[in-house]
Amino acid sequence: MASKMTTVCEYKPGLEGIPAAQSSISYVDGQRGILEYRGIGIEELAQKSTFLETAYLLIWGELPTKEELEAFKRDILYHRRIKYRIKDMMKCFPETGHPMDALQASAAALGLFYSKRALDNPDYIRKAVVRILAKIPTMVAAFKQMRKGNEPVQPCDHLDYAANFLYMLNEQEPDPLAAHLFDVCLMLHAEHTINASTFSAMVTASTLTDPYAVVASAVGTLAGPLHGGANEEVITMLEAIGSVDNVHPYLEDCLQRKSKIMGFGHRVYKVKDPRAKILQSLVEQLFDKTGGDKYYEIAVEFEKAVEEKLGYKGIYANVDFYSGLVYRKLGIPTDLFTPVFAIARVAGWLAHWKEQLGENRIYRPTQIYTGSHAVPYLEMTQRDPYPY
Ligand code: ACO
Repeated sequence: MASKMTTVCEYKPGLEGIPAAQSSISYVDGQRGILEYRGIGIEELAQKSTFLETAYLLIWGELPTKEELEAFKRDILYHRRIKYRIKDMMKCFPETGHPMDALQASAAALGLFYSKRALDNPDYIRKAVVRILAKIPTMVAAFKQMRKGNEPVQPCDHLDYAANFLYMLNEQEPDPLAAHLFDVCLMLHAEHTINASTFSAMVTASTLTDPYAVVASAVGTLAGPLHGGANEEVITMLEAIGSVDNVHPYLEDCLQRKSKIMGFGHRVYKVKDPRAKILQSLVEQLFDKTGGDKYYEIAVEFEKAVEEKLGYKGIYANVDFYSGLVYRKLGIPTDLFTPVFAIARVAGWLAHWKEQLGENRIYRPTQIYTGSHAVPYLEMTQRDPYPY
């Protein structure tokens, strides 16, 4: 008879509350609704900074001087294009495939082209950071064009990072307010301590593999509906609700079925996510200029209703609840919402990659074994069919 052994050791599902690293990149206070990048409040960055300046801050730890920022922007501008072989590879992707899968494959493919790894060389680190930040938006926009059978739109040299992405996506220069709001969205999504995709990036980085593999593994993790994929599901949910009158019946039904409400709840925040507050104000600015949207009214009513029912459990709107409404208004297709999240979060992944390399030790946690021991090998004739 096989024996069962138990081990006394506290197990925390989802590693809740277990510190997995020391980091000076970002800070979250989930009770007070505070998010800081390198000590600077997200609200102040959203007002005064830009995505690329914020990416620099996250990765190198300090705000760049004017000259440093100009040089960084110039380098990124120079590296925006992707090699024709990568485009050829992407053309072979099925047009029905999810853009996150396309992005994960394309990000990993960069490692084939830039394979000379030199993780102890600051110049290599800088070039890898620049290449990844520069090319990810181009790859996201290229897939959007290619799945329709079109050639990708080339990056436009006189447009900055956010405006250029919207241009490559929609084939027209965006309105300055739209480009500015999109840039703020990228800033808000750039970093968020050790979330699932960042942890994925750190585990991959800890093996000293190349940064393209680090980013590809993080993209795969971000894709899931419990993480980055929730913004897509929020729009599907708002469409299913369909009218303000249906908000309460829809919510009651969700609660009865005990289904998770997308865009709500967070492992760390027990109050409204500070990014959701900023995003909500961006939605309002955008709608003031371009005209309202019934889904915003539904969203506001729905948020109120969820707070009434689930606020006591610390369940409030998270970053994904309002982001989709902004993206939709900017002409971004729903299945590109998560790739857009990835464009922003790459900054945080790279910051953690660089930090991880500074004091690296390979991640190798332990487990609590719940299986049997000393099990005899059964001959084929003695085995029972598996009870599928
Ligand atoms: N809707 C309804 N109930 C919820 C929700 C929700 N969105 N989130 C949490 N709860 C409830 C759970 O049912 C559970 O209740 P119980 O204690 O009565 O069983 C309790 O709150 C704790 O929930 P967990 O799932 O254990 O919380 P966890 O920290 O593991 O999960 C997560 C956090 C995954 C974000 C969860 O809130 C969720 O699934 N939300 C919806 C998906 C979503 O919006 N994800 C985006 C998160 S932000 C981001 O990744 C960028």
